[in-house]
Amino acid sequence: MLIPSNVCFYNYFPGIIYILVIMLILNKTVQVFFKPSKRKVDGFLRSFNFHPGTLFLHKIVLGIETSCDDTAAAVVDETGNVLGEAIHSQTEVHLKTGGIIPPVAQQLHRENIQRIVQEALCASGICPSELSAIATTIKPGLALSLGVGLSFSLQLVDQLKKPFIPIHHMEAHALTIRLTNKVEFPFLVLLISGGHCLLALVRGVSDFLLLGKSLDIAPGDMLDKVARRLSLIKHPECSTMSGGKAIEHLAKQGNRFHFDMNPPMQRAKNCDFSFTGLQHVIDKIIMQKEKEEGIEKGQILSSAADIAAAVQHTTACHIAKRTHRAILFCKQRDLLSQSNAVLVVSGGVASNLYIRRALEIVTNATQCTLLCPPPRLCTDNGIMIAWNGIERLRAGLGILDNIEGIRYEPKCPLGVDISKEVAEAAIKVPRLKMKI
Ligand SMILES: *[C@@H]1O[C@H](CO)[C@@H](O)[C@H](O)[C@H]1NC(C)=O
Repeated sequence: MLIPSNVCFYNYFPGIIYILVIMLILNKTVQVFFKPSKRKVDGFLRSFNFHPGTLFLHKIVLGIETSCDDTAAAVVDETGNVLGEAIHSQTEVHLKTGGIIPPVAQQLHRENIQRIVQEALCASGICPSELSAIATTIKPGLALSLGVGLSFSLQLVDQLKKPFIPIHHMEAHALTIRLTNKVEFPFLVLLISGGHCLLALVRGVSDFLLLGKSLDIAPGDMLDKVARRLSLIKHPECSTMSGGKAIEHLAKQGNRFHFDMNPPMQRAKNCDFSFTGLQHVIDKIIMQKEKEEGIEKGQILSSAADIAAAVQHTTACHIAKRTHRAILFCKQRDLLSQSNAVLVVSGGVASNLYIRRALEIVTNATQCTLLCPPPRLCTDNGIMIAWNGIERLRAGLGILDNIEGIRYEPKCPLGVDISKEVAEAAIKVPRLKMKI
């Protein structure tokens, strides 16, 4: 090997020596004439893109996320240090209206984006000229929301004359684990949230195979709907919780065996998901119970906790089974290591510990390692967008110097869809005891 892998360092080596010498001279001169505050010297060093205590000439990315109902920004460096972050959540507003109204979300993004980006930059202590690039979610998501983030970013890119890195929201979720853990490609990822449900094999920074996805709604959406139907917001213990959290909380007190629910799609030997059917089954059960208990819609059933326990268990079993099949498929095709495979679970629903236990039973049975990013990185955030920018910079993938013709894409699949191939393999999943 003639070219060492750390070729950059060698290229810059004479330059670094030169800068160091100049800094030494200037530093001495400055010290002779007026004692500089540490801050001033730091500022001086920074103008050379030199951070005290960190690597020379390292990359720093500003990430901006507005694909749904959170306005978020963060500044992350090459080593995964989060230098600054800020987020404005619209959840409270949307809770009141019972769901996200896109023009309302758009207006809130408009009102907050500048402040949030400024806060993230200020917290990072770097000046915008030091950024290596700006990375922004451009797909998939709500059109009106994506539009706000994109047009703001393009203005910034134009002003600062920085490269632009368009980001795929789901890819960013999938790669977040590499910021917190040392995870090599390939690995399997399960994204479960209020808006997403998919299983994918991650083979590289922009190399994904989609194994399966929800054919209707996402599990978080279903759990929220059930919680709303059960009026859990009126339950004294759940009044401040999101629907999903309320179900998880009440389920601990319930007995799931009081209701007999079957996981959906038992006969379909693929990795797709479905939650609408289950939701209808639960609606029927609730109606029946309301009749039996002689209470009106909107009052709390005495069996609410049992229903919560049953729906959570059925959801967990469904998700676990599809994931189990995905692991077996990948191993059968040698797409994943036989003994060191990693399953990453992310998205808001990943913080449900019951569902996580169910997945742990699967990973234990298949000699896989189960990893989840910390909760604040599981939900939408700016850090994962900035980190995806870093990943792309390092891989030299999708960095644009010309932003002409850049558009947002509300709908955009993740990777290459091989779900048909998965279905054709018709893998039978061995039964596991779901004793959680
Ligand atoms: C999985 O295996 C680990 C280690 O053997 C064990 O501690 C854990 O309880 C198991 N998890 C489940 C859900 O069975």
